[in-house]
Amino acid sequence: SYVLYHDQIIKNGSIPVDPEDRGYLFGDGIYEVVFVYDKKPFAFHEHFARFEQSAEKLELAMPYDLPTFKKLTEELISKNNIVNGMVYIQMTRGVAPRNHLYERNMQSVVTGFAKSVSLDSIVASQSSGIATYLTEDIRWLRCDIKSLNLLGNVMAKRKAADFDCQEAIQHRDGTVTEGSSSNVFIVKNGTLKTHPSTNLILNGITRQIVIKIAQENDIAVIEEAFSVDELLKADEVFITSTTMEVTPVTNLVGSENQTYKIGPVTTKLQDYFKKQIK
Ligand code: PDD
Repeated sequence: SYVLYHDQIIKNGSIPVDPEDRGYLFGDGIYEVVFVYDKKPFAFHEHFARFEQSAEKLELAMPYDLPTFKKLTEELISKNNIVNGMVYIQMTRGVAPRNHLYERNMQSVVTGFAKSVSLDSIVASQSSGIATYLTEDIRWLRCDIKSLNLLGNVMAKRKAADFDCQEAIQHRDGTVTEGSSSNVFIVKNGTLKTHPSTNLILNGITRQIVIKIAQENDIAVIEEAFSVDELLKADEVFITSTTMEVTPVTNLVGSENQTYKIGPVTTKLQDYFKKQIK
């Protein structure tokens, strides 16, 4: 396969690893995951606008402009013959003698790869729904930054898997925030509710698209924090992410237990989302 290193697409296996890269030492870096449908990156612009915002929030230097990132993303897709799949691009602050204190405007290190994804597996969970595990959100208070620091997220995902769940639903003191790698929506009396885009969640690109297509199709959306109690009493629950699109939640386990039907609002949004892809 071919991978990205700085602004070059090279054969995998030839990227030098520097143990003093701050990405390894401190998780000091950011990333994006972009989906590929029919050989084209989906919502590239939205993803890289967020990439730029994450960089700015951490004072990471952007080594290339967005057209260059787009060209490199397209090259990763074509060189790896990806039809449907994903592109992962990360940027660390770069290499320096280990010191918590960072210097501004270091030479960032950009790496990336592309992988084929079978759309069948996504289709399966979209039609049958997934089980989720309710757990406490133990993450830091800047979840709006798409940073490489994902320990809270990976711990939540592991715990969910141990309970045979595909995703975790996290709450902070009884307020639902988001999944371990997705955003969470509830439907009550035909109205959508999801956590507002604050420092407590990642403002998902899929989340933003779903809000927009809901509004365009006269489905009311409230961006307001909701409680675990509201989650339990919801008519429908679904999660959104680049890799899961709009996926219904059928089960909630953990400190609380609930089952949900896959409802009409969720299936409508799945259809509207599919239309965005084409
Ligand atoms: N995760 N919240 C978190 C914590 C996430 O990691 C993600 C995405 C989302 C959804 O964002 P988007 O719709 O832009 O994909 C929400 C990616 C897919 C990942 O880490 O693999």
